[in-house]
Amino acid sequence: MAKKAIIFGINGQDGSYLAELLLSKKYKVYGVTRRSSVNTLGRISSLLDNKNLKLIEGDVTDPAFIYSIIKDIEANEVYNLAAQSHVGESFNQPAYTLEVDLKGVLYILDAIVKYSKSSKFYQASTSEMYGSCFSYIDNAGDRIESKTAICREDFLKLNAFQDENTHFIPNSPYAVAKYGAHNLINIYRTAHKIFACSGILFNHESPRRGELFVTRKITNWIGKYLSGQTKSKLVLGNINSLRDWGHAKDYVKAMYLMLQSDKPDDYVISTGKTHSVADFLQEAFSFAGIKNWKSYVEISNTFMRPFEVDALRGLSNKAQEILKWKPTYSFKDLVQDMVESDINGNKVCSDS
Ligand code: NAP
Ligand code: GDD
Repeated sequence: MAKKAIIFGINGQDGSYLAELLLSKKYKVYGVTRRSSVNTLGRISSLLDNKNLKLIEGDVTDPAFIYSIIKDIEANEVYNLAAQSHVGESFNQPAYTLEVDLKGVLYILDAIVKYSKSSKFYQASTSEMYGSCFSYIDNAGDRIESKTAICREDFLKLNAFQDENTHFIPNSPYAVAKYGAHNLINIYRTAHKIFACSGILFNHESPRRGELFVTRKITNWIGKYLSGQTKSKLVLGNINSLRDWGHAKDYVKAMYLMLQSDKPDDYVISTGKTHSVADFLQEAFSFAGIKNWKSYVEISNTFMRPFEVDALRGLSNKAQEILKWKPTYSFKDLVQDMVESDINGNKVCSDS
């Protein structure tokens, strides 16, 4: 019998790649999308004729919907990728963000316990949960935990990192919601003995990345500039923050592997390398053949966050050891994939 999987958020960046992965493994995939007055299925348009894919309209903030879908399908695996996933926007819509990103998870967990206890569950946790916390090894070889904001130079000098043992002190409503959900996973795993995993995923991007996230905002602008569709400057916020950027295609494999493992656990998924937004600009503009990116970029307070996560670099040794997962795309590969796609008009995703 084919395995059944539910994907909440199937039409998002990760949902689309995960659906492709599971369909290639002959799963029957039930994808949850929100009702919308416009087409939001651009990322999964190539999958719509697949007879093993069934789309179901629903919202994770609706407990009645969640209870019925979990009960009716009794899926082998449930992946929750649905979220208000924009950190900056969570400062403008904090209550809504908590409704979706925290209470939505609670409804799914509760429904699994009540109606489908053998369903394995994956929750999309995030490196945003660390806030300003990081770890490093000092000169004596001792591991030190820090909870204070740090500039790029010091973070790099210390070779600082985050892993499964680094503290979490969220810096945004988004991160608070995700941290709450992350705690719920641990509580439900222990109290109700369900198979629930939390993937602490660091930033991952692709040509399917939403246009309001910084990487895609940059590559989308390059595509538009080179095709003559814009003459305006590229307006950005903080370009000094450091991020550990991987490719979404690699990261959905880790989600799948977590649910195939012997026991449920939390895993950091990351590349172990960190770059600033300015580094991304440099790499992307140079790949596109545009000299001197600084003359095309304007910095505006509009895109500055009231509270920033300064620096992220994840160590995914645990996932590499236990899940045998490792990233295949380098930073350069990722930037090239995104720039190339946007220069070629990005047919994959231009509607987010
Ligand atoms: P994304 O492209 O923004 O996708 C989010 C998905 O959630 C979309 O399909 C969206 O549908 C859906 N959604 C939003 N609110 C919903 C609701 N109330 N009910 C049902 N569905 C809803 O995000 P992503 O980059 O694929 O990320 C997937 C998950 O991983 C998210 O939970 C995100 O927070 C988390 N995460 C992402 C990263 C990253 O770097 N990408 C890193 C760590 C964790 P619409 O199209 O209708 O909006
Ligand atoms: N979005 C955006 N837009 N970010 C900008 C801009 C801009 O114009 N200018 C500078 N930035 C900076 C942000 O302040 C942040 O430091 C960095 O670029 C990355 O921002 P995003 O691409 O929005 O990603 P994020 O790191 O805040 O959040 C993403 O990764 C998280 C995992 O760490 C999202 O995918 C989250 O959902 C995910 O949990």
